Amino acid sequence: MKSRRALLYMPGDSRPKIEKAITLGVDSICMDMEDGTAHNRKEKARETIATALQELDFGNAEKLIRINGFGTGLEADDLAATLKYHPEGVVIPKVESLAQIEWLSDQIEAMELSKGWPLNHIRILAGVESTKGIINLKEIATHPRLDGLIFGAEDYAASIGATRTRGGLEILYARSKVVLHAAANELQAIDIVFVNYKDSVNLKIESLQGAQMGFTGKQIIHPNQVGPVQEAFSPSDAAIDYAQRLLEAFEAAEAEGAGAIAFEGKMIDMPLVKSARSVIERAKAAGKL
Ligand code: COA
Ligand code: MG
Repeated sequence: MKSRRALLYMPGDSRPKIEKAITLGVDSICMDMEDGTAHNRKEKARETIATALQELDFGNAEKLIRINGFGTGLEADDLAATLKYHPEGVVIPKVESLAQIEWLSDQIEAMELSKGWPLNHIRILAGVESTKGIINLKEIATHPRLDGLIFGAEDYAASIGATRTRGGLEILYARSKVVLHAAANELQAIDIVFVNYKDSVNLKIESLQGAQMGFTGKQIIHPNQVGPVQEAFSPSDAAIDYAQRLLEAFEAAEAEGAGAIAFEGKMIDMPLVKSARSVIERAKAAGKL
């Protein structure tokens, strides 16, 4: 699965921002037709995205589109205007049920069949950001076309009547639940937007917190956020080094028939080995190995 440490949104009607995004070395570029685009610019966004998909070389960056949510009356036209130009994935916001993902997947499959594209190639990332979305995660997260779950804090907080605070206690339950259901279905979990894009200190703190909670990446909204977020969601050199030493020691002991070993003063068994293997995989995905 493609590594998505940093997923950058830009208003889909802004060709300059789409072009800028391509120069940033960001993992995923998400051209937005939803909340980043004004109501009277939806048509313009569809056209701009359609042209960008045809004309621009995105290099190593993943090209994603974000459509308007199911039931807005915009979602089918968003897809009709852009899907035929082959984005690599579709972000659907404010998902509240498995049926909504099924609807989107059926639309994508029909396009894949009509174009002769490989089936299931175009992936779905589901935004969960409401009471029902969080409650129905158990079903939503099972769809086979999903690559990841995206948590939206602002909409979620509004949906439960909470006030956003810096500490974020009001979103902790839902934020953790997204990680849980993503992990249970081997999906990526993509963390909240840090909207104060000039504050790099607190961006780093929030990014590290997300990584520690188990998120695999974070949504971003400004070029300044690319570097700090990619770094927070890549294993550090020290973590990679430790994982390599641990695995070497474990594999040597395992060959001798030991299941749990002592390593640098700590007991090491299967869960820690799995976590070390995941560090190595993420380091490879981040180009650090
Ligand atoms: N993607 C690509 N390029 C972006 C960008 C983004 N999300 N945000 C800013 N840039 C570009 C600007 O166009 C500018 O480019 P330039 O130097 O070539 O002119 C440069 O980065 C510096 O931008 P800056 O002047 O600091 O910000 P701004 O005032 O132009 O824009 C925002 C501020 C918040 C409007 C802008 O960052 C933005 O549109 N973010 C995305 C919003 C969005 O999509 N929201 C929905 C998802 S939550
Ligand atoms: Mg939103």
